Amino acid sequence: MAELQGAEKQRYVADLFTRISGRYDLMNDLMTLGMHRRWKRRTAALAARGQAGLAIDISSGTGDLALELARQPEVEHTVGLDLLRDMVTQANSKVHARSMTGSVTMMTGDALSLPFSDGSFACATAGFSLRNMPDVAQALSEMVRVLRPGGRMAILELSPMPKGLRSALFRPVFHGLVPLIGKLVAGNRSAYSYLPQSVDHFLDADQLAEMLSGLGLDEVGYRRLGFGTVALHWGVKK
Ligand SMILES: C[S@@+](CC[C@H](N)C(=O)[O-])C[C@H]1O[C@@H](n2cnc3c(N)ncnc32)[C@H](O)[C@@H]1O
Repeated sequence: MAELQGAEKQRYVADLFTRISGRYDLMNDLMTLGMHRRWKRRTAALAARGQAGLAIDISSGTGDLALELARQPEVEHTVGLDLLRDMVTQANSKVHARSMTGSVTMMTGDALSLPFSDGSFACATAGFSLRNMPDVAQALSEMVRVLRPGGRMAILELSPMPKGLRSALFRPVFHGLVPLIGKLVAGNRSAYSYLPQSVDHFLDADQLAEMLSGLGLDEVGYRRLGFGTVALHWGVKK
């Protein structure tokens, strides 16, 4: 399924995330032993540092990264956008539960065609979502388009690990344990078999950095997190 392209991939991904939306947060906590929360805090802080103004988180899912953006002192207001109504509903529950309706707006929308004018945002983030996009370059160029000149974007993504002992050790975890937990906790083994396959099919961290530079960003860089399983990328719009 990870090799699907275009509209077929988008349909598959939409169906998959609709089915697991109710267990999505619990699965993230279990699979990362809670570390995804720290990574998201770090991504939001990096994107917003010195960037007073509006922030956007594309493909927000249940909203954790958008909420982290909204907590950054520089950020005046945050938009969290996701393709799926079920995800936006979950994200909105968190916004209300945390009394953050004045600082975050969650909405449905397509990251491949953002409903905002050029240069609207001071910073932009994407968490664990580019892999699921039918057109990664289009999603990135939309993020760049809506950033103002000098604005920063930060991308948190699972990343194919460089070949070696560590990658050999993690492979059974990704391809065996994660689908098993997915079956037991989310009642959906195939969704969590897709996850490691989608990482195998995704750009490695150097390729993603090259793509960001190719889109005309400055100060492009990345850092590996989570024992090398995750990469945090950044870049600044010229
Ligand atoms: C793995 S989840 C990541 C959610 C969240 N960013 C996080 O870090 O937990 C991927 C999300 O991407 C969303 N998505 C996939 N394609 C999209 C698109 N074209 N536009 C907007 N959201 C999309 C899915 O609905 C899903 O909520």
